Amino acid sequence: MSDLTRRNFLQAATAAAGAGLLPASALGAQAAANKANGPVVIASGNGKRATAKAAEILRQGGDTLDAVIAGVNIVEEDPADHTVGHGGLPNEDGVVELDSSVMHGPTCRAGAVAALRNIKTPSRVAKLVMERTDHVMLVGEGALRFARAHGFEEVNLLTDDARKIWLHWKERHSDVDDWLKPPGEPDEIDLESNAQSMADIPFSYGTINCCAVDASGNLSGVTTTSGLSFKIPGRVGDSPIIGAGLYVDNQVGAAGATGRGEAVIKTCGAHTIVEAMRTGMSPLEACRYALQRIIDTTTEPHLLREDGSPKFNVVFYAVAKDGRYGSASMWSGAEFAVYANGKNRVESIRSFMFKREDIE
Ligand code: GLY
Repeated sequence: MSDLTRRNFLQAATAAAGAGLLPASALGAQAAANKANGPVVIASGNGKRATAKAAEILRQGGDTLDAVIAGVNIVEEDPADHTVGHGGLPNEDGVVELDSSVMHGPTCRAGAVAALRNIKTPSRVAKLVMERTDHVMLVGEGALRFARAHGFEEVNLLTDDARKIWLHWKERHSDVDDWLKPPGEPDEIDLESNAQSMADIPFSYGTINCCAVDASGNLSGVTTTSGLSFKIPGRVGDSPIIGAGLYVDNQVGAAGATGRGEAVIKTCGAHTIVEAMRTGMSPLEACRYALQRIIDTTTEPHLLREDGSPKFNVVFYAVAKDGRYGSASMWSGAEFAVYANGKNRVESIRSFMFKREDIE
């Protein structure tokens, strides 16, 4: 079979499998394709170490969920990454609150935690919610008590670097509160002349998503984040919401999201992608389909530019059961990490809905 014919065949086979129509011969062909190509792991642009680690575990025959969690743990535990786990940017009170979800394709199970404080690896707590409770999600104090019960070490997640970034924001975000900028800077905020320093403040929806399919066609995924920087305490984004920041169906594929969680929640982003793949769309087409849903449903004037395009970014990542993968972003300039065909790399996302004017 040529590559294209094989691709079309597998695409039709995947759609048929989803509809429960897959004949034994097609299942056999799909399994053979998975075996020949080996594992495929896809992650957000900050996930190159995660895809490498997950692929290493999968090559040794490990479980897909154990693999992706071990991968993102590297980023959760890295204080230099200000979007996830230890070192993540805090809420408006200076407290780091973490969100995470996991899904295990072979057993159709899921677990999640939201607004979890003091624990570096919320993805591991999410897995324990899946394995050791009859629930899918624990939040806030309840999630922390559950983590304590399982012996997780409590630490102050706010690193000195993240505290300084938060303080910089705290002292400058309003000219009607009592927080003052360091001596030497004017008391009054002139937003125009402070444009550069305001732009320096890293407002971020940063997150890591990582999904994998192994050589047997089994899938899993994880999404983990410190969420929107300087958020209202208790704000929960898409990352811990099953169907929004993550969705896995072992018959079809897996998908995840980074970027503005509110937009992904409203459109059930990851679930929309997996269901689109079930109808026969490629991972890339399905990611674009979900982005278009966000464009069509964003009506809030404060979120729209003059030309009607959204002011925020969202990036989707997807992998199909047969190992095809794709990623698309709302705005150009994003990257994703992938392990496929035995190689681990970061790629530019070439499929976007709008082109940023400030980059080539
Ligand atoms: N996508 C991460 C968040 O919105 O919290």
